[in-house]
Amino acid sequence: MVKVRRSTIIEAPVDEVWRILRDFNGHERWHPAVAESRIEEGRQADEIGCVRRFRLADGGILREQLLRLSDRERSFTYCILEAPIPLIDYVATVRLKPVTDGQRTFWDWQSSFRTPAGEEKALAGLVGEQIYQAGFDAIKSTFGQQSIAPAPARRTSAGSIAATGVADRPIECQGLVIERYGGPEVLHWERLSAPPPGPGELRIRHTAIGLNYIDVYARTGYYPLVDPPGVIGMEAAGVVVDIGPAVHGVLAGDRVAYACNPPGAYAEYRTMQADLVVPLPDDIDDETAAAVMLKGMSAEFLLHRVHRVGEGDVILVHAAAGGVGQLLCQWARALGATVIGTVGNLEKARIARAHGCAYPIVYSEEDFVERVNQITEGRGCDVVYDAVGRDSFMRSYDALALRGHLVSYGQASGPIEPIDIAAFAAKSVRVSRPNFGHYTGTSVEVRAMTDRLFDVLRRGILRVEISQRHALRDAAQAHRDLEARRTTGSTIFIP
Ligand SMILES: NC(=O)c1ccc[n+]([C@@H]2O[C@H](COP(=O)([O-])OP(=O)(O)OC[C@H]3O[C@@H](n4cnc5c(N)ncnc54)[C@H](OP(=O)(O)O)[C@@H]3O)[C@@H](O)[C@H]2O)c1
Repeated sequence: MVKVRRSTIIEAPVDEVWRILRDFNGHERWHPAVAESRIEEGRQADEIGCVRRFRLADGGILREQLLRLSDRERSFTYCILEAPIPLIDYVATVRLKPVTDGQRTFWDWQSSFRTPAGEEKALAGLVGEQIYQAGFDAIKSTFGQQSIAPAPARRTSAGSIAATGVADRPIECQGLVIERYGGPEVLHWERLSAPPPGPGELRIRHTAIGLNYIDVYARTGYYPLVDPPGVIGMEAAGVVVDIGPAVHGVLAGDRVAYACNPPGAYAEYRTMQADLVVPLPDDIDDETAAAVMLKGMSAEFLLHRVHRVGEGDVILVHAAAGGVGQLLCQWARALGATVIGTVGNLEKARIARAHGCAYPIVYSEEDFVERVNQITEGRGCDVVYDAVGRDSFMRSYDALALRGHLVSYGQASGPIEPIDIAAFAAKSVRVSRPNFGHYTGTSVEVRAMTDRLFDVLRRGILRVEISQRHALRDAAQAHRDLEARRTTGSTIFIP
């Protein structure tokens, strides 16, 4: 089954957008691909079972049936009965949600269908770009919102229209720029330009962007990853608009994702090295990819390469309800480990438990070292995964078993004080300080890690919780929430 999912933010209140979209026969007034439409047998356009028969601008005729419509959920589902192209068993759902202050709308459009063998990619591209994206752009312009410049187009063998070729002009777009190092207020929404791709490069239209704690370090200058003024962000998914010379293995119209240095993801478009991106399989949607690439690849190298976690291990995961934390808990449990986790409050304890953490500890209420000793009957943990840093590092050492492994992979609470390594001889512990970049340095390494990651997603071993969604231009609020420990799971931005 091919799955296509696209979403966007419309700069208009949700009820106004719903008024337009709920009219099952109204697409002839706003969708550029639809020339005319009528409801068969004189039925009402909001009657379940009604069929709309419409003619496309290129003359093709389609018949689609309304299967479900909910004004309360601002959502409807429909299927294709007849179409000039082979979208078999096509069922789609449109869903709207208010964003933050209610003056913006999150619009999600997704479908699943079958195609003849070999046509999956082309038809998924057609549906995602020429139907969903074109619809988004049309509704945006209805509300006076700038839509993004379309890529040059050509017909493919499947009758789809896909972007291609090296456009020789920059694409004007918008994104978030840090003016200087500092708090979330230094993020400014500005006009940007994505240059035509040079040799070995491609240009992407982002569809979803991931938030990671490293974005905070890049914003504050704690890690000097970006020289202000510049665009931060290490993780995103999108569609390739065009490719430069000497690019192999990826084509215009392909869905791709990445998690890497250099930053630059907080923008509608981006031009970057082609070997940094990974083609997305049809069953991994863009939002999931943006939510999981960096955190999931981190979980992969932390559990499989920095320390090989296996059957019978007892591990301690700090921030167990967080982005990386939830993935570590689920994956480690599937590898046969017993997972103990620390969390900031009771609700996070519930979330951590639901993601494989057998013993969540609310550290403001209980001393986690004492609790680890109780659970392990005085033995301690084989591995501690600590990305909290200053506030937890020495206590993590206390929670280790003899010859245990302290994996310090971040410092959300601040830098760790200098330590006397000789003190670690008292337990013969190992300490690792892994860096994402050193495990993802080549495209061969990245492909091996993402293959394993996509496999565990597919097998349901990892469930990715997108607990926060924001318009990209509201990223400053998302940074505030992350730093104030108000988030759980993953946060994504919709450009
Ligand atoms: N080394 C690497 O290559 C690598 C790769 C990926 C991520 N990381 C690190 O992994 C960590 C987690 O990243 P993430 O994006 O998934 O974030 P996250 O875990 O979703 O968010 C950070 C969490 O840390 C906990 N925390 C404890 N003390 C804190 C403090 N003083 N300020 C802020 N948070 C505090 C909070 O959870 P509680 O309230 O439950 O304590 C908070 O929700 C970060 O430190 C990041 O730098 C490192």
